[in-house]
Amino acid sequence: MSDSNVKIFDTTLRDGEQVPGCKLNTEQKVIIAEQLDVLGVDVIEAGFPVSSPGDFKSVEAISKIVKNATVCGLTRSVENDIKVAAEALTYAKHARIHTGIGTSDSHIKHKFKSSREAIIERAVRAVKYSKSFVEDVEFYAEDAGRTDNEYLARVCEAVIKAGATVLNIPDTTGYCLPSEYGAKIKYLKENVKGIEKAILSCHCHNDLGLATANSIEGVINGARQIECTINGIGERAGNTALEEVVMVLKQHPYLNLDTNINTSMLYGMSQLVSDSMGIYTQPNKAIVGANAFAHSSGIHQDGVIKNRETYEIINPKDVGVTESAIVLTARSGRAALAYRAKNVGYELTKIQLDEIYANFLSFADKKKEINDNDIHQIIETSNVYQQIISA
Ligand code: KIV
Ligand code: ZN
Repeated sequence: MSDSNVKIFDTTLRDGEQVPGCKLNTEQKVIIAEQLDVLGVDVIEAGFPVSSPGDFKSVEAISKIVKNATVCGLTRSVENDIKVAAEALTYAKHARIHTGIGTSDSHIKHKFKSSREAIIERAVRAVKYSKSFVEDVEFYAEDAGRTDNEYLARVCEAVIKAGATVLNIPDTTGYCLPSEYGAKIKYLKENVKGIEKAILSCHCHNDLGLATANSIEGVINGARQIECTINGIGERAGNTALEEVVMVLKQHPYLNLDTNINTSMLYGMSQLVSDSMGIYTQPNKAIVGANAFAHSSGIHQDGVIKNRETYEIINPKDVGVTESAIVLTARSGRAALAYRAKNVGYELTKIQLDEIYANFLSFADKKKEINDNDIHQIIETSNVYQQIISA
């Protein structure tokens, strides 16, 4: 693996599936997993096998069909969780157990009623036990975002010694600022003995809308895996959106960080997940929202028609969207009307356009958005229609 390569760990089927009201059956999960594999993700977190017989069945079914990606199962630092996950992963070509425990003082005190030392012992036991089943063991320090860095470094050191090959540093509550999260990753890179034997992984939640920024700051500071979901779905305000981090890295090549993702599949993947889960994607969602490549103000439309790059930093084809949309509303100018009229077969002169534009504005003031049928109607009822069709 080159040092510029950032692994994409997709957790749509585990953390993503924790969205209230969302339930996928095994068949739907298998279809999504197959597509994630083709998309080029490095790891598919297929579920939390001990949590229910249905989840076990899904992880097992996904393990059987995934060809390239590593298939991962989540566990707590509990022996039975680990044993059951290993069983569910039996058929995976590349299997990973993702085990861990809360490390913040809040989790240690309130969730576990335990002590820092006892938590390290449990973490080490869980990693060692996982290693008795698979070589590839990832450890998560839950609530690492609010865990004291010095203690977190001790936890990381201990689990690397026990055999963990990936260290997940979750900002479980979405609390960190990008500078803080980046500094945490840097601190671990510089202070954990044996860190060169493991990959640091960013797992950020979006409670303050900072999940993407935090993950990017994490990889800038030395992490080499990002945990994310399609459309950013997940617990509460969701997880880091896969399509966002992948496109940030692609559009900023000077960062010298890349992924194995086939970006032209991103839009289709977003639709598949949204349709299967019955979760509507907000129109202004970055990269995959319905308006991500739609231009509606006259000034922007004029610019985009002259040259797409005036108002677009991404070529829509790069993410699987066929073309930018010029949306006609009462805010649109003549350039946009002429462009859309041409698309439906009318080549208008300047005088014809002036005449039709006045009709267009009064029509658009009544109707929010003008579609192709409306354009025909506006032109056909104008004084210059005869001129246009006889030209
Ligand atoms: O957010 C989190 O801390 C998690 C862990 C279980 C990895 O999802
Ligand atoms: Zn999470």
